[in-house]
Amino acid sequence: STRPTPGVPGEELLVLSNRQPYRHSDDDGDGITVDAPAGGLTAGLDAVMRQVNGTWIAWGDGDADAAVVDDDGRVTVPPGESDGQYTLERLWLTDEQVDNYYYGFSNRVLWPICHSALTNVDGNARFWDHYQGVNERFADAVVDSADPRSVVWFHDYHLGLAAEMVQDRIPEGVFCIHTWHIPWPSWDVFRACPHGREVLRGMLGNDLVGFHVPRYCDNFLRCVSAALPGAHVDWENRRVVHEQSVTTVRAFPMGVPADDINRQAKHPGAETFWRDFSDTHGIDDDTKVGVGVDRLDYTKGIPQRIEALERLWESSSQWRESFTYVQVGTESRSQIDAYSQYQQRVEDAVESVNERFGTDDWQPIVYTTDYLADEALYALYRFADVAIVSPIRDGMNLVCQEYVAAQQDDDGVLVLSDQAGAHDELHEWVMSINPHDTTAFKETVDEALAMPREERRPRMDALRRHVATNDISTWIRTIFATVDALREPTPKDQHH
Ligand code: F6P
Repeated sequence: STRPTPGVPGEELLVLSNRQPYRHSDDDGDGITVDAPAGGLTAGLDAVMRQVNGTWIAWGDGDADAAVVDDDGRVTVPPGESDGQYTLERLWLTDEQVDNYYYGFSNRVLWPICHSALTNVDGNARFWDHYQGVNERFADAVVDSADPRSVVWFHDYHLGLAAEMVQDRIPEGVFCIHTWHIPWPSWDVFRACPHGREVLRGMLGNDLVGFHVPRYCDNFLRCVSAALPGAHVDWENRRVVHEQSVTTVRAFPMGVPADDINRQAKHPGAETFWRDFSDTHGIDDDTKVGVGVDRLDYTKGIPQRIEALERLWESSSQWRESFTYVQVGTESRSQIDAYSQYQQRVEDAVESVNERFGTDDWQPIVYTTDYLADEALYALYRFADVAIVSPIRDGMNLVCQEYVAAQQDDDGVLVLSDQAGAHDELHEWVMSINPHDTTAFKETVDEALAMPREERRPRMDALRRHVATNDISTWIRTIFATVDALREPTPKDQHH
């Protein structure tokens, strides 16, 4: 639909993220191809941007030569569609910037720190210089496009300094929001962050800072109060007063485009995909199916999941040849050793379980790193009896919500780690697990597979209602209702 969402800014909306929604490339010299990256964030925001006709600024990962750009480096997307378009502006970064800003400070320092994985932190002075430099480029791009009506919306941990830089460059100020899509850790963990104070100060350049769950808001406010003696935290109103400016901190739990997923999962193409897929892998109608879909990231708990499944097939022989687990893994950040090693570890674990239990007619774990089109992905979700989402730590996790949105007949069961932000919202209706407690994890999967329909139904029914009500458009509307309220001066503010 191209109907504007009430309350959401139109052309005055500037969205900034590291990851772009479309990538242009000419890899084999055969002409330009356009594809969309993995990850729920860009897909969700793309739908919003199509409605409001704003501008999205992102790192132009891909070929600058292949991207169809005008003199200002802008392109109208989505490609080839006549309505619901917006402007995409790419920042072309040098290899050195990508190595130190993206693979460096963002993914070797902030990512592990925010996921409390301190042993994976890998500091290097050059990381910080380039993190600052690239944040400056994003800030400059905002200054070039912004006017006093603009609403500037930063996303994620790559751009932690940009808001403060924007405010320094625009003396009359511009309204800035920052949504941080990963956890914010406790102060006891965050204090390990090199330049952590600067990152906190950078974030206070925003008028509104959003996290996915209230726990992360509390952690952020505690970090501010511990690290920045000049900042006053007003706990009652969840805001920070710092150098004459006010930053409001709120939880906005992100949702998925539930209607759209439901529609695609119902499509006959989804059934065709599933028929081919299940035939290929020897999955018949009596086989129970489990599914997991993850970027190959050490926060996702894939080896722990495989370990629990191995214990299950070991101790409960009834699930041998009658339960198949499908793991979709998307390659991610492979230039970082911790990631390439993790990919290998997952592959080895799958292979060893398949060797141990596999028979001529049955492969316990079907593992694929192939790119799956949305329809194929939603088909997998739809026909899986159980989804297993077992992160060690995860800001929100949209896979579990996508699984719920794709269910028909209120039939699936969701096994969900209590370390996912989504668990805070969905815990009443899921089968909760601690990814490290292998025995309990194994027993929970066993229970989920054996759960009678009378119990599955009310759980999935409640999950589907929750996910449909708290979908991506509710998320956007709630954020912009908060923006409106903050821009509207309250009588108390006028009095001061
Ligand atoms: O979940 C955090 C996040 O940065 C998302 O914003 C994004 O969709 C995903 O991870 C993918 O990561 P990357 O952009 O590094 O491939």
